[in-house]
Amino acid sequence: HKFAIVLGTRPEIVKLAPILRVCDERCISYSLIHTGQHYSDELDSVFFERLNLPKPDYHLDIGSDSHGKQTSKMLTGIEDIVQTENVDIVLVQGDTNTVLAGAIATSKLDAKLGHIEAGLRSFNRDMPEEINRIVTDHVGDFLFAPTEESATLLRNEGIDESRIYVTGNTIVDAVQANREIAIEKSAVLKEHNLTPGEFILMTAHRAENVDDPDRLASILSGIDRVARELDYPVIYPIHPRTQNRLNEFNLTVPDTTRLVDPLDFLDFLRLEDTASLVITDSGGVQEETCILQTPCVTVRDSTERPETVSVGANVVVGTDPEDIVNGAIEQLHKSTDWEAPFGDGTAAEQILDILL
Ligand code: UD1
Ligand code: UDP
Repeated sequence: HKFAIVLGTRPEIVKLAPILRVCDERCISYSLIHTGQHYSDELDSVFFERLNLPKPDYHLDIGSDSHGKQTSKMLTGIEDIVQTENVDIVLVQGDTNTVLAGAIATSKLDAKLGHIEAGLRSFNRDMPEEINRIVTDHVGDFLFAPTEESATLLRNEGIDESRIYVTGNTIVDAVQANREIAIEKSAVLKEHNLTPGEFILMTAHRAENVDDPDRLASILSGIDRVARELDYPVIYPIHPRTQNRLNEFNLTVPDTTRLVDPLDFLDFLRLEDTASLVITDSGGVQEETCILQTPCVTVRDSTERPETVSVGANVVVGTDPEDIVNGAIEQLHKSTDWEAPFGDGTAAEQILDILL
C-alpha cells in the first residue's frame, strides 16, 4: 500500500502521534502531509519536538484564511500529492478544515479514506467542525468510531455497517504514553508556582465562543467568579485566536486569571492531571480530563463528547457566569471514580490492523 497521513493542527498532531509510533514499530512506511493550518511554533513544532515525531514529508504551508480559501488551497495541495505519489490510502483525524480538505480530495480520487474519530455529533450545524465531521464521515471508507455511541450515530445517518469500526480514541494511547513522562519531565507546576489540587485550568478557543465579544466576556466573568468562590488561581494557556480577539474587543482578563502562552503537550497534560477542575470549550480537553479523572466544566451549549457527561466527568453549562459557577461547584463535589469510555489505549494498533 501507498499510505499517507494528513495533519495540520495541534489536536491532530497529539492524536495522530500514537499512529506514527505504531507505524514506526511495525516498519510501516507512509507519507506525512502537513497542511500548515497551524504554523505558530507553540501550536505546531513544539509538539513534533516534545513527542519525538518525524518531520513531515510534505508541508503545504497554507496558514490562516477564510474557511473556503483555506480549505480549497489545502484540497489542491493534497490532491497533487495523492496523485503524484499514487497514494491509495489516506488517513485523517478529527474535524478541522485540514480533515475536510483531506476527505474531499481523497474521495474524488482512486484512494480510500480512513477517518479517526468518526461519528461525533454536536447536532449544532453552526459549528464549522460539525460540517467537517458530517462531510468526512459520509465520504469516508473506514470510519473509526471511538465508542459504540458514535457508531450508532453513524448508523442513524444511514452509513453502511461495513464502513464502521469501534476502536476507542487514540487520545487514550497518547495519554497513556505521556502521563509518566510528563510527571518526570514537566516543571510546569514549579514554573507557575501551582499546588496540585489547588488551581483551575482553563482553555477557550472555539469560534462560537471567542469571536463573540459578549460570550467571551461572559466566560471570563464566570471563570473569575469560580476563582473567587473557591479561592484558587486560574491558569489559562491562551490560543492565538483568543488572544487576537481579546485585543480586538479591548477585553482584559480578570486578576484571578493568569494568561500564559500555549503549553506543550507534556506541560499541559501535567496541569490537566493535577488541576482541581478544568473549564474548557476544547474537544480534546473534555476527553483527556475524563481519562485523567479530573472534573471538567464545558462552556458550550452542546458537546459531541456526551459520553464524558454520562459517566459524570463533564457538565455542559453554556456561557452564563451563574451557570459556570454552579457547574464548577457541582463537579467539585462529585466523586471522580468514573470509568473513561474511550477505549483501552490500543486504538492506534487496531486502526492500523484494519486499514492495512
Ligand atoms: C482550528 C480548528 C478547530 C480546532 C482548533 C485546534 C477549523 C475550522 N478549526 O481552530 O476545530 O479546535 O484548530 O486548536 O479547522 N492562528 C495563529 N497561529 C496558528 C494558527 C492560527 O496565530 O498557528 C490564529 C490566526 O489568527 C487564525 C486564527 O488563529 O486566523 C484561527 O486559526 P484557524 O486555523 O482558522 O482555526 P483555529 O481557531 O485554530
Ligand atoms: N493542548 C496543549 N497545550 C495547550 C492547550 C491544549 O498541549 O496549551 C493540547 C490538549 O492536551 C489536547 C489538544 O491540545 O490534546 C487540544 O487541542 P485544542 O483544544 O486546540 O483543539 P480541540 O481538541 O478543541 O479540537
